[in-house]
Amino acid sequence: MSRSAHPAGPRHADVFPEGHYSAPPADLNTLDPKVWAQTVSRGADGVVTVGGIDVKTLAEEFGTPAYFVDEADFRARARAWRTAFGHDADVFYAGKAFLSRAIVRWLHEEGLNLDVCSGGELTTALSAGMPADRIAFHGNNKSTAEIRTAIEAGVGRIVLDSFQEIVRVAHIAQELGKRQRVQIRVTVGVEAHTHEFIATAHEDQKFGIPLAGGQAAEAVRRALQLDGLELIGIHSHIGSQIFDTSGFEVAAHRVVGLLKDIRDEHGVELPEIDLGGGLGIAYTSDDDPREPHEIAKALNEIVGRECEGARLRTPRISVEPGRAIVGPTAFTLYEVGTIKPLDGLRTYVSVDGGMSDNIRTALYDAEYSVALVSRTSDAEPMLARVVGKHCESGDIVVKDAFLPGDLAPGDLIAVPATGAYCRSMASNYNHALRPPVVAVHEGEARVIVRRETEEDLLRLDVG
Ligand code: LLP
Repeated sequence: MSRSAHPAGPRHADVFPEGHYSAPPADLNTLDPKVWAQTVSRGADGVVTVGGIDVKTLAEEFGTPAYFVDEADFRARARAWRTAFGHDADVFYAGKAFLSRAIVRWLHEEGLNLDVCSGGELTTALSAGMPADRIAFHGNNKSTAEIRTAIEAGVGRIVLDSFQEIVRVAHIAQELGKRQRVQIRVTVGVEAHTHEFIATAHEDQKFGIPLAGGQAAEAVRRALQLDGLELIGIHSHIGSQIFDTSGFEVAAHRVVGLLKDIRDEHGVELPEIDLGGGLGIAYTSDDDPREPHEIAKALNEIVGRECEGARLRTPRISVEPGRAIVGPTAFTLYEVGTIKPLDGLRTYVSVDGGMSDNIRTALYDAEYSVALVSRTSDAEPMLARVVGKHCESGDIVVKDAFLPGDLAPGDLIAVPATGAYCRSMASNYNHALRPPVVAVHEGEARVIVRRETEEDLLRLDVG
């Protein structure tokens, strides 16, 4: 969700009260660079291009709906995170945002590490050549088979999420004659300002072990006693689509507090802390995300200050951005199918995809932007709702958007900032075929995840 979508945001209630919409933007043909991938621009003929290729050509070659990812932008953002954190820290890209073998190769080449949270993500990472020691394995209920595969492969760390898992991982590591590097994920009790479903540091939820009541300290005690484990640090992830660093500040304060208690009780200074991911991106022009170097500076200062206060050696920091790297680098291209003006309300614009390629609007009330990209238009703006083709009235892609009043079937429209949690959360609802992901770079486009086919659907249906 964009910042404006969460309860603290002003936009819907104050600026867009029911039925009274604010003035549309002065020029619907202008693309706000805040929400579009780096190489996206409108050509002299009015058609939008990415990576030097126009969307009409892309639609002809790859069909719609489709996700187009700007490879140069992805690499630049990955590099910016890497550079901002420097050699004394590690950046783990969170694969859940979007993972494919091409993405793994780009990350590897740009010097990033990878956070995976399932056997499927681990297999994808290993098959594309990510060195196992640069992989962190997450999840609140990893299966024994997943744990075994991860340890056998030699993953750099497993992030332990429960008391059962501490014992489970230790046991499997010992069986395999190994000592597994692990972190313990704690919940620090921070209320992150984001949608409830993606806030993860308050205590009443499924992830991590609470600091409160001494549970995390007890988890550390147990992990330190087990031969199969090498406890290297503490992990905290406070949530997603967060714009300010105050939540991280409280988290760092509490995690460093735990490190100090561990030093005092066990005489051990754990060498690492992981502050998770969760940095927000611009979905609409109202959002103002922070740059990686600002975040790195803030986090380094917070951790440095807290450690100095606690007389601890500053641990090595790691972070796990997913959305902030891949989110802004892609857009979804749709073809307009039907247009239904409802008097006094709005115009419903139906596209050839929907909640099967972007569930975020339905699930989190997320806000997105949209633009007509196959041509320019000087027509009067109309208040539109972009909807999909699924059998469900909540099948909304963009809830409130202005589009040109002369929009017509066959026009191409694009929704920017769909690189994160769109393809990775795509479904086959109504037996929709999940769209391809096409990487565009310096005048060349290549499919990195192909479109599903009806044969794919039938192949799974073995009854
Ligand atoms: N690290 C951990 C342990 C996580 O659980 C997550 C996200 C991340 C890193 C990456 O967070 P990011 O930087 O991408 O915000 N489906 C939701 C987001 C769920 C995030 C789950 N964990 C959405 O579409 O907004």
